[in-house]
Amino acid sequence: MSGFDKDWLALREPADRKARAGNLIDRLCLYMVATKPHRALLDIGCGTGSTFRTLSPLVPVDTDWHLLDYDPLLLEEAKLRTGERSNIRFRRHDLNDLDSLPLDGVTVVTASALFDLCSADFCNRFIDAISPHGAGLYAALNYDGVMQWTKPHPLDEQVVADFNRHQHFDKGFGPALGPDATQHLRLGLEWNGYHVCTAPSPWVLGPDQARLQAELLHGIVRPLTEVGNLSSAEISDWLAFRRASLPAPDSSCVVGHTDLIALRKR
Ligand SMILES: C[S@@+](CC[C@H](N)C(=O)[O-])C[C@H]1O[C@@H](n2cnc3c(N)ncnc32)[C@H](O)[C@@H]1O
Repeated sequence: MSGFDKDWLALREPADRKARAGNLIDRLCLYMVATKPHRALLDIGCGTGSTFRTLSPLVPVDTDWHLLDYDPLLLEEAKLRTGERSNIRFRRHDLNDLDSLPLDGVTVVTASALFDLCSADFCNRFIDAISPHGAGLYAALNYDGVMQWTKPHPLDEQVVADFNRHQHFDKGFGPALGPDATQHLRLGLEWNGYHVCTAPSPWVLGPDQARLQAELLHGIVRPLTEVGNLSSAEISDWLAFRRASLPAPDSSCVVGHTDLIALRKR
């Protein structure tokens, strides 16, 4: 339903986990430890529960979790993978309905690979929604506009420019912020009295992650076609070159992301 396939999310999860900025996770954990007596995390756009799987072994065991997504298939998979536990609730909810987001008692809202899909207007309304509750935000793995390959191809620059242009197309929240998401969140959150930290969380994908790289390449084709600057022959040539380079031991790809944590000053 959302266009995010569970197999794609499973394929990217180990790379995401490795990429996440550890110093921001440490901040989140310290904040959770210092929050008493009740701690709760609301994971929005939870997919199959990747953020829960990464963070739950690190935050206090008595933390309540609320996993929220609008895609019933992904939520079902999240339930299957997580199992029944008394401290986890699942909720099907379209984030565009911010008024009924379950924010009461939430210590920090978490989100991974979500805010680059969102519009400036959505982010502003989201900050307006969480701010009166004093809820913090951990927003990880927002694409930052950087894609680089060790083996250069003459069309790389155009490919990245077109892909980044497509990042601003509407992904269900209005015109998306894409690579501008982190900076937009930072300014809005600071304006609302949050203490904000950001840190890079790039994927660095070598030949050992050829499957993820291949899926990434596959996923780039539609945006390039929709932007329409490159002919289908140019896209095919570029793709064939990239696919042929995948097994080479010195071939790797960097995809830039940024993580952000915003907490209330105590
Ligand atoms: C890139 S996936 C990330 C999933 C998960 N956070 C992860 O890191 O694996 C984006 C997620 O946002 C969800 N999503 C997109 N638009 C949404 C909306 N309007 N309301 C609720 N969830 C949404 C999708 O269903 C998908 O699970």
